[in-house]
Amino acid sequence: MKRILSVLLVLVLTLSLPLCLAPQTQAATKLVAITFDDGPSGYTAGLLDGLKARGAKATFFVVGNRIGSYPETMRRLVREGHQIANHTTNHPQLTTLSASSIRQELNTCENKLKQYGGNQMYCLRPPYGSYNSTVRQQSNGPLILWSVDTLDWQSRNATAVYNKIINNTTDGSIVLLHDLYSTSVSGALRAIDTLKARGYEFVTVNELFRRRAITMQKGSVYSAAYNKGITLPAVEAPVAPSITVSDVLGGKTVSLTTTTKNAEIHYTTDGSKPSEKSKKYSGAFTVKQNTTIRAVAYNSVLSKESKKSITVPLAAAPTATYNEGKLTLTAAKGTTLYYTVGDGAPTTSSAVYSAPIAMQTACGVLVRAKGAADRKITYTLTKYGALFSDISHKAWYYNAVSEVVQKGIMVGTANQNFAPDQKVSRAMFITALYRMSGERAEVTPLEQFEDADMQSWYAEALSWGVEKEIVKGMSEHTFAPNDNITREQMCAFICRFLAYKQLSPECHEREPFADEKEISFWALQDVMALYEMELINGRDNAMFCPASQTTRAECAQVLVNLLTL
Ligand code: NI
Repeated sequence: MKRILSVLLVLVLTLSLPLCLAPQTQAATKLVAITFDDGPSGYTAGLLDGLKARGAKATFFVVGNRIGSYPETMRRLVREGHQIANHTTNHPQLTTLSASSIRQELNTCENKLKQYGGNQMYCLRPPYGSYNSTVRQQSNGPLILWSVDTLDWQSRNATAVYNKIINNTTDGSIVLLHDLYSTSVSGALRAIDTLKARGYEFVTVNELFRRRAITMQKGSVYSAAYNKGITLPAVEAPVAPSITVSDVLGGKTVSLTTTTKNAEIHYTTDGSKPSEKSKKYSGAFTVKQNTTIRAVAYNSVLSKESKKSITVPLAAAPTATYNEGKLTLTAAKGTTLYYTVGDGAPTTSSAVYSAPIAMQTACGVLVRAKGAADRKITYTLTKYGALFSDISHKAWYYNAVSEVVQKGIMVGTANQNFAPDQKVSRAMFITALYRMSGERAEVTPLEQFEDADMQSWYAEALSWGVEKEIVKGMSEHTFAPNDNITREQMCAFICRFLAYKQLSPECHEREPFADEKEISFWALQDVMALYEMELINGRDNAMFCPASQTTRAECAQVLVNLLTL
């Protein structure tokens, strides 16, 4: 018994030895190119599912006049890594045609292939494997025949197809099939399972020749790439790029790297999907605004995508004060201030701020910091020396803003902003009118307006407006204090203000507004009266834009017009 056991033990050890060594002495992969002619067809999509499940690649010699009927199948072929190739446009026997007819047959198909596979050298399989020197001369690519003919079109029998493949395939074979028959598809997929188990890898024709270190030549004829001792490694998808972002003056620098040798990096900055056709990375670059980087590495195979959103803030604004003819700026930490006095645009070659700047009208400042986009600010003085960073002394409303700020009728919003384009709420407008009147009023309870907050900043002005019959509600019970005031509503307020003040400026005849019909019936009289009194003007092209909301600049101008009465 003991002896038997020891014999068994020796046997087990001997048997297991090659198994243990197997991973280290792995045999070179056997390659086979499986090819399908005459499609695409209704069976191709199912074939693609089967190939995908098995990790097998194939080559499809498609017929040009069928391509248009299967656009999604064509896209899938390319997307899933199969090779698309030329099988002429109408499947004629090319040897019976003239050179120019052959060229037309080949080029028409190739132009359709290009819509899916782009510019590349497309392999040709002449129908019936029939070619001559004219066909070879006219071809834009190599001619690919086969070494294993399954005769699938004849048998229409999956088992027969399977047996043909299994019994005839060797390392380097090119197998001929047609994706026109369900029997070809099922026979081929079964054969793939069997041959994979025997160590075969299913590759495209291009990959078969590349791995056998054969450079196919245009016009040459190939029917197999048998193993003569050279099998190059498969190209694996490169490692996806890593995206490194670092701070530089005026923005952020982006570096893209992949650990895969000889892989190119391609990227987009507009959010679009990157491919090998996207911009090629050639060195670190700087982004000056919020940007999404999407990048891939490519070495005939695309890597997975890397994506990074980069936020580039604006350099922090300094605090600014103006006193006795001098602008004093206090720079935020880590920022440098460059400036030019007057209307010139500052650059990083301009003077660097170090002490208060003597300033008469305007001063341009460029703020630069690491990791932030340059901020440009133009400080402008009103006629009376108030400092703003968002008005120009060349703006049409410059004088009006100067006046209303000087008289305290309107004030800046924050950080030297006047916000000329910002809209004016109904509460703000009655407040401005109230301030302009110079009158004082007590806050009175206003029961008619359910939405008026009589504890708020506008309570006094609103009480005054109601008492003087300048304000009417939006409806019987609402004032809508926070709604932006439209241009025609503003006219109605002003007309009632004029009535209260018993002012009736002289009227002048003026060209009618092109959009007079747009003015609400209740406002038409008021709008036209103010227009003829030259207290209000249209906007561009003789338009009044009655429903448009009033801007702070327009509000300032109207109030200044009233002040002149
Ligand atoms: Ni054919």
